[in-house]
Amino acid sequence: MNLGLQGKTAVVTGGASSIGKAIVEGLCAEGAAVVIADFDDEQAERVVAQLRTAGHTVSFISTDVGDRAQVERLVEQTLTEHDHIDILINGAGWTVNGLFLDKPVEDWEREVAVNLWGPINCTRAFAPSMARRSYGKIINIGSDAGRVGEYQEAVYGACKGGVIALSKALARELGRYEVTVNVVCPGLTLPEKPEDAGSMSLWHADSPQSHIFRDEETLAKVVRRYPLRRHGVPADIVPLVLLLASDQSSYITGQVISVSGGYAM
Ligand SMILES: NC(=O)c1ccc[n+]([C@@H]2O[C@H](COP(=O)([O-])OP(=O)(O)OC[C@H]3O[C@@H](n4cnc5c(N)ncnc54)[C@H](O)[C@@H]3O)[C@@H](O)[C@H]2O)c1
Repeated sequence: MNLGLQGKTAVVTGGASSIGKAIVEGLCAEGAAVVIADFDDEQAERVVAQLRTAGHTVSFISTDVGDRAQVERLVEQTLTEHDHIDILINGAGWTVNGLFLDKPVEDWEREVAVNLWGPINCTRAFAPSMARRSYGKIINIGSDAGRVGEYQEAVYGACKGGVIALSKALARELGRYEVTVNVVCPGLTLPEKPEDAGSMSLWHADSPQSHIFRDEETLAKVVRRYPLRRHGVPADIVPLVLLLASDQSSYITGQVISVSGGYAM
């Protein structure tokens, strides 16, 4: 299938690591020009250098998606660089697993800032120019935690549930401008190469939940809850995102689709 992404411009938040990085690579391989918006400068610059060496059009704008002023600057710089934006992937995410009764409120504030305010800020900033051109594809990376309610992921899951409701409402409001809004929900997804996990990444060796993938017994226990009996890898998420970013999906909006080996049905 020819996805027809040549000449399209895309912004990928959280594009420096893991799932976001795989999406950036997928968009580049399909011929799109990509702007990575991430706050992990070192990791993002590494990705940009690799992709430019391979001949792709990719740039990086250092952005904290939870900070509205920084997101406004992201839009200005992107529109100066590219004139217009066709595709917005809200992929930046952050969480630390922990029981609701134990977690410090500072973790919740950060989870809400990144996982809920991030997509709100970025959509509010980019959607007007999409609406003016009567063209746009917004893809929010949700989570099965937002569909089923997940142990030790109460506030993170609440944010992702919020993203699902936000996306459905925006699909209704923006459809008249031919802007589609869909949600792709991963389940447990681990980078194939540990170095693809950014320094602030969920799966970075220093992060509190990295024991899940370092301890084979724990990982095996988690994976047994997945009908397809394996965890996801970033490359699993990419094909659906590319389809939703293309005109092949022009009659699909407001949908929530899991790519998680059947974890949420
Ligand atoms: N990996 C999983 O198991 C899993 C499961 C379900 C959903 N998700 C979702 O998929 C998306 C990607 O997850 P991942 O596993 O690739 O995570 P990751 O931690 O490997 O990468 C997240 C990226 O977002 C960036 N980021 C974090 N906070 C940011 C901020 N405030 N501003 C800008 N950039 C920021 C990080 O620097 C990093 O590059 C997230 O939205 C996450 O919630 C992941």
